Amino acid sequence: MVKETKSDLNPLFAQKHSHHHVHVFLKLAVSCLLVGLAIRLLFFTDSFSLSSVVHNPPPLAANAIVQLPILSFPSPPPPSPSLHFPPNQTQTSPRDAEKCDLFVGDWVPDPNGPMYTNESCRVIEDHQNCMRNGRPDSGYLYWRWNPRGCQLPKFSPKKFLDMMRDKSWAFIGDSISRNHVQSLLCILSQVEAADEVYHDEEYRSKIWKFPSHNFTLSVIWAPFLIKADIFEDMNGVSSSEIQLYLDTLDDKWTNQYKNFDYVVIAGGKWFLKTAIYHENNTLTGCHNCHGKNLTEVGFEHAYRKALQQVFDFMTHSEHKAVVFFRTTTPDHFENGEWFSGGYCNRTVPFKEDQVEVSYVDSIIRGIELEEFHKTKNSSANNLKLLDTTGLSLLRPDGHPGPYRQFHPKPNAKKVQNDCLHWCLPGPIDSWNDIVLQMLTM
Ligand SMILES: *[C@@H]1O[C@H](CO)[C@@H](O)[C@H](O)[C@H]1NC(C)=O
Ligand SMILES: *[C@@H]1O[C@H](CO)[C@@H](O)[C@H](O)[C@H]1NC(C)=O
Ligand SMILES: *[C@@H]1O[C@H](CO)[C@@H](O)[C@H](O)[C@H]1NC(C)=O
Ligand SMILES: *[C@@H]1O[C@H](CO)[C@@H](O)[C@H](O)[C@H]1NC(C)=O
Ligand SMILES: *[C@@H]1O[C@H](CO)[C@@H](O)[C@H](O)[C@H]1NC(C)=O
Ligand SMILES: *[C@@H]1O[C@H](CO)[C@@H](O)[C@H](O)[C@H]1NC(C)=O
Ligand SMILES: *[C@@H]1O[C@H](CO)[C@@H](O)[C@H](O)[C@H]1NC(C)=O
Repeated sequence: MVKETKSDLNPLFAQKHSHHHVHVFLKLAVSCLLVGLAIRLLFFTDSFSLSSVVHNPPPLAANAIVQLPILSFPSPPPPSPSLHFPPNQTQTSPRDAEKCDLFVGDWVPDPNGPMYTNESCRVIEDHQNCMRNGRPDSGYLYWRWNPRGCQLPKFSPKKFLDMMRDKSWAFIGDSISRNHVQSLLCILSQVEAADEVYHDEEYRSKIWKFPSHNFTLSVIWAPFLIKADIFEDMNGVSSSEIQLYLDTLDDKWTNQYKNFDYVVIAGGKWFLKTAIYHENNTLTGCHNCHGKNLTEVGFEHAYRKALQQVFDFMTHSEHKAVVFFRTTTPDHFENGEWFSGGYCNRTVPFKEDQVEVSYVDSIIRGIELEEFHKTKNSSANNLKLLDTTGLSLLRPDGHPGPYRQFHPKPNAKKVQNDCLHWCLPGPIDSWNDIVLQMLTM
């Protein structure tokens, strides 16, 4: 029935392969095996029993829960290498920067709170429905993002829908992109409820229509953005390594690209998973594939190559869409990782100097900024940087934690925390405030 596994936390799995220094791999080789084993145990014992204790049978849409492959043999965390997040290097395009930098600022108290609740929005995915799931504190709902040196109005659903009459919009990426589209749906539903007009077999890609505005909103499941063969069963257990084709884009989104006036696209964490790389019809190496006679080439090359092709496709496409490229989203596991008891129970935002971006996120975001600016510099286009990494890093309080489940038992030993996705309502709503502001600047 319902596939209530931990699998939608899976982007975290590979989080640990933050770099590919040979000595680290050697040092960790033994513990990798142990952690791999622990994960199998955790998964098979805990999540299979989870699947039999679904409290409220979720609505049909809950089947949309992404089944990410579980067994990707994550290695343990690196010896906590981290870099300070350079706040002043957060850059918008030169044109936007003339006005102000929307991505540098602070979270300030907002007594008005969110624009919707679990009652007024019915499309919140169970795992992110923190209110319904019994999260006791609500302080995390009363903050707004305040860019330094400019105003950021709250999202106006009426203004947005009026601007979007006869237009079409797509979110392309992984489960964080779905988290983002649900935030937008919830905000817009205050003015007009959307009709779901399409979903794929796994409920991962969907299309909604807003009939009285003739506005079409899509979410397209393309976690790598490039062609990938992912072998997993209904429980998200992968039976074989992911095969990634570094020189071929995922046609799930490219086939439809010409239909979209606006696109929000993002990549990132899936590239950290174990995968075998192909280029030019040749097997060229792999990432984290212990025990295979293949060259470890690290994920960086693969991610860079994927983004280059994404931008190249958009630059050379005859169809011109307004494209928001979103940077990587940080997680906030503390005192452990997703698989080793890590949790995120803070209840207030960080101040800028209280937190550092993780090593792996700094690598991912570095690749993103470089490739974005290369494209931006070399061609006139409608590419915009939605650089939400830094402002999201300041919100350790915005994740479901144990409240990804309906009323988790207090002090239960084996509660799986989600410190990656965002509660709805929650800090991710501000991403939409920024998107609308960027459209009107
Ligand atoms: C960032 O810029 C502000 C002024 O715009 C300055 O006061 C601050 O010291 C800078 N911070 C860093 C880390 O450079
Ligand atoms: C919304 O959350 C509250 C708890 O905050 C709960 O009592 C209520 O049943 C939830 N409603 C829905 C429709 O999920
Ligand atoms: C709705 O918008 C599409 C473009 O996205 C346009 O082709 C179509 O004519 C519009 N329909 C109506 C009824 O205006
Ligand atoms: C791709 O492979 C073919 C032979 O299989 C070779 O002739 C060609 O140069 C390769 N292209 C690139 C870009 O590596
Ligand atoms: C690994 O691959 C190399 C070159 O493809 C081959 O020479 C070697 O015998 C292989 N080793 C094993 C253990 O299969
Ligand atoms: C978070 O959990 C830890 C460990 O259970 C506890 O020591 C700490 O007080 C908690 N913090 C908050 C803000 O609840
Ligand atoms: C792009 O241009 C900006 C200034 O407009 C410059 O700072 C940056 O280094 C350039 N990046 C690349 C990759 O060329």
